[in-house]
Amino acid sequence: MSVHVQNSRMTTAKLRQMKAEGEKIAMLTSYDFTLANLVDEAGVDVILVGDSASNVVCGNQYTLPITVEEMIFLTKGVVRAAKHALVVCDMPFGSYQVSEEEAVRNAIKILKESGCDAVKLEGGEEILPAIRHMVQAGVPVMGHLGLTPQSVNQFGGYGLRAKEEAEAAKLLHDAKLLDEAGCFSIVLEKIPAALAKKVTESVSCPVIGIGAGNACDGQVLVLHDMLGLTEGFKPKFLRHFANLANEVKGAVGTYVAAVKDSSFPNAEESY
Ligand code: KIV
Repeated sequence: MSVHVQNSRMTTAKLRQMKAEGEKIAMLTSYDFTLANLVDEAGVDVILVGDSASNVVCGNQYTLPITVEEMIFLTKGVVRAAKHALVVCDMPFGSYQVSEEEAVRNAIKILKESGCDAVKLEGGEEILPAIRHMVQAGVPVMGHLGLTPQSVNQFGGYGLRAKEEAEAAKLLHDAKLLDEAGCFSIVLEKIPAALAKKVTESVSCPVIGIGAGNACDGQVLVLHDMLGLTEGFKPKFLRHFANLANEVKGAVGTYVAAVKDSSFPNAEESY
């Protein structure tokens, strides 16, 4: 039996190699086939189907409501688009906190049903047993420390994390534990750049930052934010690489006007 393997696909081993060679890792979110196709073609290394889909796609205030089934549905489209990038699916709130057994079962369900390459989950020492079980079961796991949006109700907001010494020390400790447990990568969200640098230098796996400064092994942003589609959201760490909200509104406004004044469709656009 011959099995066709696309060797241009990103792998967790290649990501580790990129860290070792000092090549930065570019990661973005995507939630659907069409945009994931463009993101993949443009050369992104890792596509995250983030539970930020809860906000961006579903319009919820928090990431908490999105379900395993909804994440699988979105991830399937992204997987069909990704020819090069490694596809990571976020494990939603409630799918890995109850017990290690349930966490492994949900991780395997996500991997099998969506076809993604890996899962991401938020937290440190408190979810270590779940991470160990997943890794033992053969599930590639990406960690996520710092501002972990699923804990927004505990944090009381989306402010900078680990600015005090005790929380910074716990974060560094947690990162080392995740690394030792076999996480293939760790996301650090909204923490001081100096702490992110220390973590990046202290762990063997690649560290991907969002609002964590320039010393990380790579960067991640929410696609809709960096494209300037999410109006009114402009934290300090976010750079708008385009201003698509204006483009979309301009194009739609022009379309509406053309329909109203009967200039669309014209003779060439008709059969
Ligand atoms: O859900 C998400 O989009 C994320 C990124 C912000 C890292 O977790």
